[in-house]
Amino acid sequence: MERIYITTPLYYVNAEPHLGHTYTTVVADTLKRYYRSIGYDAFLLTGTDEHGDKIAQAAAASGTEPKAYADRVSELFRLTWDTCGIAYDHFIRTTDDYHKQFVQSVLQKIYDAGDIYFGEYGGFYCYGCERFYTEKELVGGKCPDHQKAPDYISEKNYFFRMSKYQQLLIDALQSTPGLIRPERYRTEVLAFLREPLEDLCISRPISRLQWGIALPFDSNYVTYVWFDALLNYVSALAHRGGDSLASLWPKANHLIAKDILKPHGIYWPTMLMAAGLPLYDHLNVHGYWNMDSGKMSKSLGNVIRPLEMKARFGMDAFRYFLLREMAFGQDAKFSEEALVTRINADLANNLGNFVSRALAMQQKYFDGVVQPLGAIWPAEDQELRDKFAQAENELKDYMKELHFHRALEAIWSALDHANRYIVQTAPFTMIKDAEKKARVGAVLHHLLEVVRTLARVLAPFMPDTAVELRDLLAVGVDSLKAPWGRGFVAGHKINPPKVLFPRIETDAKK
Ligand code: MSP
Repeated sequence: MERIYITTPLYYVNAEPHLGHTYTTVVADTLKRYYRSIGYDAFLLTGTDEHGDKIAQAAAASGTEPKAYADRVSELFRLTWDTCGIAYDHFIRTTDDYHKQFVQSVLQKIYDAGDIYFGEYGGFYCYGCERFYTEKELVGGKCPDHQKAPDYISEKNYFFRMSKYQQLLIDALQSTPGLIRPERYRTEVLAFLREPLEDLCISRPISRLQWGIALPFDSNYVTYVWFDALLNYVSALAHRGGDSLASLWPKANHLIAKDILKPHGIYWPTMLMAAGLPLYDHLNVHGYWNMDSGKMSKSLGNVIRPLEMKARFGMDAFRYFLLREMAFGQDAKFSEEALVTRINADLANNLGNFVSRALAMQQKYFDGVVQPLGAIWPAEDQELRDKFAQAENELKDYMKELHFHRALEAIWSALDHANRYIVQTAPFTMIKDAEKKARVGAVLHHLLEVVRTLARVLAPFMPDTAVELRDLLAVGVDSLKAPWGRGFVAGHKINPPKVLFPRIETDAKK
């Protein structure tokens, strides 16, 4: 059986789940469901990143111990993903004992091999990013992300010989085009590697920070949070036992946004090389969601919370918007107006109306009982079937390249065709002629085949809707696999329609 291992970043517990986290997690969930649907053994990992200065400071600011603070926010992430219906297989916390032990064992291994050494380092340190900046990386003397001047600190620390792996990493990136994708991010990492790579400071003295994993070879230090957190992708599999590590790790597909490209594109592969592990299969990098007003932030009061979106618009509508609106790899803009426009046009109108028309006619003309297709299919029937077959083929190619928006576009283009088919065949007119009743039955049967196909192809993107469609058709999961025209047994009775996506009235129209 083919396998795929999908991961989200481990989210920091100093912020509550928002739009950005939700996008990556929804993409991961969609991929998992898609690969499952084509017969893969797919494993999805998510969780929380809980050590380091940033978390210690946030805990202190809220007057809580770091562990109690992390417990609360980590649980919030888990609950949010549960409520959103994210089908993760394991939720890892970097404070889990097995993870801590794993990190220590890797540190010891790399230390014993001579790739970790003790040295002195002075540099510009940004507490927000939890990393040192070179002067060149600062913009006007400030951290470009946090707009704050970093502190100059000098101390004795442990270093990972990252520089030793620079050429090996360049070779790997050059010989494996898809290693980091889309391509622009591979190019970005390669451009960065044109400069000599410095060794990575991987410890923090406990005089400055206690909230971390102790170095196994020096208890005066804790592990730098990135060296700890990145290892989760492997520690979770080692913990799972069996052949998980051997079979799933080489199939790893990480999902991240461009903000954490450097740790995943440079630190992580060199760490893997030093630990004697194979590289991930793909690092998949997406762009940033921005708000009309610029960046999303607590202080601007424009944070989009997934549970609020789910409560107001429904999870599937929100998922559809996220996957349809952003081209994976590029930035996108979030606005409620755009969300409502998509829901009304694509979901209430195109999808919702199609389904309710098809089901309502079936009910009205045949009391819900599916009619025979007829031996000879007119050209328009074949065209309809072919259109969906084509969409499904395109979808396969798009999913390989993470072009979710194009995959959905392909499905909606077939749906447009199906809406036109209703207009062209006009069953509502034909039914007035008793001689044409059999043809009406066949046309409606094709419409139900469209609904059945939708229940299959939409499942990874809009899992609840797919189940609803299936319930309306009164068929089981297995019957979704049947080819066009073979989905319903003679005499099968479907259910009456219901409103799947109510139209959202905007203020302007009230
Ligand atoms: N803890 C680190 C990751 C460690 S992974 C071993 C971290 N955490 S984070 O909470 O800041 O999450 C960053 C990730 O959240 C991004 O890479 C992306 O997946 C998601 N997003 C957060 N804000 C985002 C947007 N505005 N837009 C899109 N995704 C973003 O970094």
